Amino acid sequence: MRRLVRQTALEPRNLVLPLFVAEDVTDKKPISSMPHVFQHSINSLCTITEQAIRAGLGAVMLFGVPSFDKKDPIGSEAISPEGILNQAIARLRSEFGDDTVIMADTCLDEFTSHGHCGVINSNGKVLNDDTVELYTAMALAQAQAGVHCVAPSGMMDGQVGAIRSTLDAQGYTDTTILAYTAKYASSLYGPFREAVGSSLSPTLNTSYRDPSHIGDTNAEDTTIMPMYRDRKSYQQDPGNARESCLEYSLDIAEGADIVMVKPASLYLDIIREIALISHVPVAAYQVSGEYSMICAAGEKGWIDAQALSLESVLSIKRAGADIILTYFALDIAKHLEK
Ligand code: PBG
Repeated sequence: MRRLVRQTALEPRNLVLPLFVAEDVTDKKPISSMPHVFQHSINSLCTITEQAIRAGLGAVMLFGVPSFDKKDPIGSEAISPEGILNQAIARLRSEFGDDTVIMADTCLDEFTSHGHCGVINSNGKVLNDDTVELYTAMALAQAQAGVHCVAPSGMMDGQVGAIRSTLDAQGYTDTTILAYTAKYASSLYGPFREAVGSSLSPTLNTSYRDPSHIGDTNAEDTTIMPMYRDRKSYQQDPGNARESCLEYSLDIAEGADIVMVKPASLYLDIIREIALISHVPVAAYQVSGEYSMICAAGEKGWIDAQALSLESVLSIKRAGADIILTYFALDIAKHLEK
């Protein structure tokens, strides 16, 4: 009877597994703040992608981690076809073709020496339009490498429209865009920043020296001002809900194919609000902090981590998400198989 009347059910095809591929890793390297999650080499990335396909997951979402010495102020490695992320996309596409949907993060934070999602001026302020230009080049490089879906996550104004017109102009009319539509400046991204070796960490005071960056080419000594040491100048304020509907309208007008809310668990109201108005599929990202908190409490024996992981993802679906990005994706698929 319980099964008969249940409204919401999880299916592996709705789940997307986020994966990290790192240039300096030879096999796979554990991420201490995210139990059972690894930085992969391209080979181990292929292995886990094959598992994802066998488990029936809907897609994989790739994040690239370049060697530290290859980071620069404009994140050049994100655009180079030789960059780790573009190499990984090309390899997965040649191994697996259309067996799964290959998605990639279209953002510069893993690739910039200062760790911001875009290029900065001499005060450390992120420059919206210069950044969007780099995103279009990055999206094009990803499309050329064979990605099915680009996922601009930097919250720059106009990013979706600019990427859409670049892709269309270059003949990539079928490459889809998953837009990070409502991305909040959240404390839940902490473990992720370790996972990708981000240079922007709450504890790192970046007195950032580099004369060559965009914005102020004369700057010999760039000290990122305190107000620019986080992502609050481009990510949303957790206190605001209405703004997400505006971001939704803009992304739709600019050509987004899927809209996403992030983080998920603390923003179920936003997911619901967007789901009620959206004419395109709605995704939600259960981010690193959500994952790690469940794992940590489970390790302490304070909660049943497996049960809670299922309940949390089910709740995200119940709120209205059609697609859920979660580090639990493989575990959940295994559980559903049983
Ligand atoms: C930005 C990006 C971030 C995450 C996904 N894309 C980090 C950030 O905004 O600081 C976080 C995902 C997670 O915490 O699991 N490229």
